[in-house]
Amino acid sequence: MGVKVVPIETRWAGFINYCYLLVDEDAREAALVDPSWDYGKIMDVLDAQGVVLRYILVTHSHLDHINLVRRFSERFPAASVVLSREEHDQSGFGEPGDRYVRDGERLPLGRGHIGCMVTPGHTRGSTCYLWEDNLFTGDTLFPDGCGICESHAAASALFDSVRRILSVVDPSTRLYSGHCYHVANGLTFERAMKTNIYLQIDSRETFCGFRMRPGQKNLFAFGSLACEED
Ligand SMILES: [Fe+2]
Repeated sequence: MGVKVVPIETRWAGFINYCYLLVDEDAREAALVDPSWDYGKIMDVLDAQGVVLRYILVTHSHLDHINLVRRFSERFPAASVVLSREEHDQSGFGEPGDRYVRDGERLPLGRGHIGCMVTPGHTRGSTCYLWEDNLFTGDTLFPDGCGICESHAAASALFDSVRRILSVVDPSTRLYSGHCYHVANGLTFERAMKTNIYLQIDSRETFCGFRMRPGQKNLFAFGSLACEED
């Protein structure tokens, strides 16, 4: 017994997303990150775990991360929908009763806590969730890239967010993102330091120039280097 992370790959059209079930096996409590696309598949995982769902955690409000949030919220009314205040203010996503968190807030789950880290860049209120030795990054950071930015200022914010993440996590912390293409999710930051060039760039100017370089694909290229090179 203990804690575990259950990744759930869901697909629709050209999208491949990863949502996650965080399970405290002793307390039989869970949190669900970014439920999207495949209600039946996610429900099957929840049923198999036999847990009480306490939170639905939103990393950011792009459609491919939130399209099943309301359906799960209606199915589990005792679960809190969690997103950052900044993301709500920017996007308008959220309903009365949702919990708009600030950077640094901690949500109790079982024997521990989920830490909320607001990491602007991909969106203004993008949020990573740190639970035990696992970081759930949405589109802020992938195993081999990072989320696309709409402006140089956003890229500069993302640089700060990535440097801050590196100052907080341990090398053994595992990275779980909303997408992955050529490098699998769940790798440690020790390994991600070798697979993700954005983690290696310590100059803001270089980071922003590379993130905003011309000739990239559209929003849904997600900034994965391998993807961009396809
Ligand atoms: Fe996104």
